[in-house]
Amino acid sequence: MLHVGINGFGTIGKRVADAVRLQPDMTVAGVTKRSPNFEAVVAHDRGYDLYTADEDSRAQFEAADVPTQGVVSDLVEASDVVVDATPSGVGETYADLYSEYETPALFQGGEDADVAEASFNARANYERAVDAESARVVSCNTTGLSRLFAPIREQFGIEKARVTLVRRGGDPSDTGRGPINDTLPDPVEIPSHHGPDVETVFPDIDIDTMGMKVPTTQMHTHSVNVTLDADPTAAEVRDALSQESRLFLLPEHLDIDGAGKLKEYTRDAGRPRGDVWENCIWAESVTVEDGDLYLFQAIHQEADVVPENIDAIRAVCGRTTSAETSIQRTNGALGIGQDLLDHDTGTRRTGSPADD
Ligand SMILES: NC(=O)c1ccc[n+]([C@@H]2O[C@H](COP(=O)([O-])OP(=O)(O)OC[C@H]3O[C@@H](n4cnc5c(N)ncnc54)[C@H](OP(=O)(O)O)[C@@H]3O)[C@@H](O)[C@H]2O)c1
Repeated sequence: MLHVGINGFGTIGKRVADAVRLQPDMTVAGVTKRSPNFEAVVAHDRGYDLYTADEDSRAQFEAADVPTQGVVSDLVEASDVVVDATPSGVGETYADLYSEYETPALFQGGEDADVAEASFNARANYERAVDAESARVVSCNTTGLSRLFAPIREQFGIEKARVTLVRRGGDPSDTGRGPINDTLPDPVEIPSHHGPDVETVFPDIDIDTMGMKVPTTQMHTHSVNVTLDADPTAAEVRDALSQESRLFLLPEHLDIDGAGKLKEYTRDAGRPRGDVWENCIWAESVTVEDGDLYLFQAIHQEADVVPENIDAIRAVCGRTTSAETSIQRTNGALGIGQDLLDHDTGTRRTGSPADD
């Protein structure tokens, strides 16, 4: 049983903690918070041992009567592996602490790629993180693109990829972010940072990306164009993508026209927090014209990296060298893939909600 410490219990950390708890081969050693806000109270209510960022913040917890077990270094010492889910740029300040305790560490996509030995996506390059001292689970957008490009590359070859990312302005709890009433090229420079980030997973891919930000907190939407080496039919591409457990091809009859209905669908299907762990590709958008593939996909920024963190834990701890084995175990424990498909056909759902 792997004891997993989670440093940072925010948008990503709390989802990773709940997902760890559902795995047959892992348990949560504890979670770290800086302030005794509602998420700290939720962590306590769920039975997670709470640790604080430092002694000063521990005093705040004591004043608020929220029990704690120690500070972050105590958690690192008690853990077989640490998932760092602190805010962008904070993770790297903990790298020395993780090394000091010789505790393998996972960082998130908000950190620079050089914070860790490998940039990780389970479907694309699981083996690069096996027994590594550290790995960086790439960002939500890079995860979404890596999962999509891995099978396309293997089956049809990628000559050139061009992606426009229409990005949510912030997460639902990010009250300080925007835009509120605008459409921003973001960043204005081209390529956006997403293309180079995809290259940390696929060093030889030729990709240009453009980013925008829009006033929604729901999901990102990608407009994807890939010039393929081969010239398959759209049906052949659809068939290849439908074999992938973390790609969900939205059937036309579901009448899901955007992120709002998609989130409603996953809430109706019983997903914890309405989380969408898979890339959702509009099936009828998959089009091939003279070897050029086009499609739209939606990426739930709060959720798609969660199963990847679980697989990365197994990889850095050397629990299995097989991506397929880990992916199947993670998917089975969370109910990924089948719960939406079975819900669509009205049959039994698998897996348990992660917030039970
Ligand atoms: N949110 C997304 O859409 C998303 C998607 C993919 C990847 N990521 C990446 O995941 C990472 C975490 O992002 P997030 O959105 O989950 O952040 P978040 O919601 O702001 O959560 C950060 C957590 O870290 C805690 N924290 C802050 N400073 C700390 C410190 N010095 N030591 C220990 N804990 C500290 C916070 O506690 P307090 O609340 O008490 O301050 C909070 O629990 C970032 O690298 C981000 O780029 C985010």
